[in-house]
Amino acid sequence: MASYRSILSTDAPPAFAFIDPPFDFNSATVSKFPPEVTGSLVLRSLCRRLGWESLSGKRLLDFGCGVRFARTLVNLGMEIGTYAGVDVNADAIGWLQAHVADPRFRFHRLDMKNHLFNPDGGMVQADTLRHFGLTEFDAACMFSVITHQDPDDTRMILRMLRACVVTHGQLYFTAFIDESVDQYAEKYIEKRSAWCNYNPDYLVDLAREEGWAVQTLYPGSELHQPAFVCRRM
Ligand SMILES: C[S@@+](CC[C@H](N)C(=O)[O-])C[C@H]1O[C@@H](n2cnc3c(N)ncnc32)[C@H](O)[C@@H]1O
Repeated sequence: MASYRSILSTDAPPAFAFIDPPFDFNSATVSKFPPEVTGSLVLRSLCRRLGWESLSGKRLLDFGCGVRFARTLVNLGMEIGTYAGVDVNADAIGWLQAHVADPRFRFHRLDMKNHLFNPDGGMVQADTLRHFGLTEFDAACMFSVITHQDPDDTRMILRMLRACVVTHGQLYFTAFIDESVDQYAEKYIEKRSAWCNYNPDYLVDLAREEGWAVQTLYPGSELHQPAFVCRRM
């Protein structure tokens, strides 16, 4: 009788990991879909717009990360070189630190004041993220983060991120834009930082002053606001 051993494969199955963080930082229009669905769609468009075939081998710094991209990358087994997530939310960052063991991932809590997300936070400096050891990234990204920052905080964030990416590295961020606004305006005066509208020309100038040349502005879609693709000057 032939033995099945001659046909038994030694090929190991792909590593399986699943995380289910108990947080949702997305708006109702986004979170009505499973996070991995919107996460992979948005990450694929980020790759295309940055001129990358995929995230394979790339070092990506996600500022204001929440939990969506971490769960997308882990649960879908997507390839990536290094993913660093930074957020003011101590619970989300603590959870990710405790549940994602993959050495390609790292998470840092940043205690920066934000009226909506971290009203008791403090001041940060241009080199604060570098002091976390966050350097030499191919690109940084921010989804729905500048949407909640006033111009002073936007400047500081752009300055911090510039210190973390390689020479000629890239930056991808989304923002609410409104040509009728003179520079910057809060949509809801009574709920500070809930919806920060920028004049697009003003935001492009502000980015340039912080060392980022905006190369393309993509219109918004159902899943995210207009997106700015920049290169480090
Ligand atoms: C609308 S959520 C988007 C989360 C994630 N980027 C996504 O697209 O799923 C905004 C996130 O930015 C974080 N955030 C806001 N201001 C921040 C700041 N100054 N520094 C770090 N994180 C910040 C919030 O805690 C929150 O997780």
